[in-house]
Amino acid sequence: MSRNIVLCGFMGSGKTTIGKMLAQHLLYTFVDTDDVIEATTGMTVPQIFEIHGEEHYRDLEHNAVKELASRKKSHVIATGGGVMTLQRNVDVFRAHGDKIIFLDIPFEVCYKRIKDSDRPLVRNNTKEALHEIYHARRDLYLAACDQRITGLDSQAIVREIIQGIHSSYTPESERY
Ligand code: S3P
Repeated sequence: MSRNIVLCGFMGSGKTTIGKMLAQHLLYTFVDTDDVIEATTGMTVPQIFEIHGEEHYRDLEHNAVKELASRKKSHVIATGGGVMTLQRNVDVFRAHGDKIIFLDIPFEVCYKRIKDSDRPLVRNNTKEALHEIYHARRDLYLAACDQRITGLDSQAIVREIIQGIHSSYTPESERY
């Protein structure tokens, strides 16, 4: 069993798409923090934001992070865009030894992908406000990650991540 791969980045950076491809290549299990929360609560993310508010949603996210990190190995975990902006979540993954990868995709590309979606942050903010959030968060993703990936070609991104995993792998016999 190997350490989990945690994908972070802004909404629309491709965490789910890349995560599924990566999991298929590595024969890992793919999981998305938003899916975990929706399955646990029986509510959609927009419903949770609307009925219980963002703060409650962030607590649910933290619970999902703890649950995933505490029990699981060999998982590719796609995190919601807010997860790795909170140090308490970064700390959980770090303590578990998971590898954190930041998909650093330009704002305009992300925005094109998310602008017509029902994500609460997209519905409740102007493009300009989202751009500011993007910039503030980018610094946090950079601080949290072990590896930053750029580029837009999905196959190339997956290849780069896999190369990074192999190059950081130390055979058991050389560990001590
Ligand atoms: C959020 C991102 C969403 C989802 C929620 C909040 C955020 O996930 O968790 O709408 O704060 O950036 P994706 O990044 O998968 O869209």
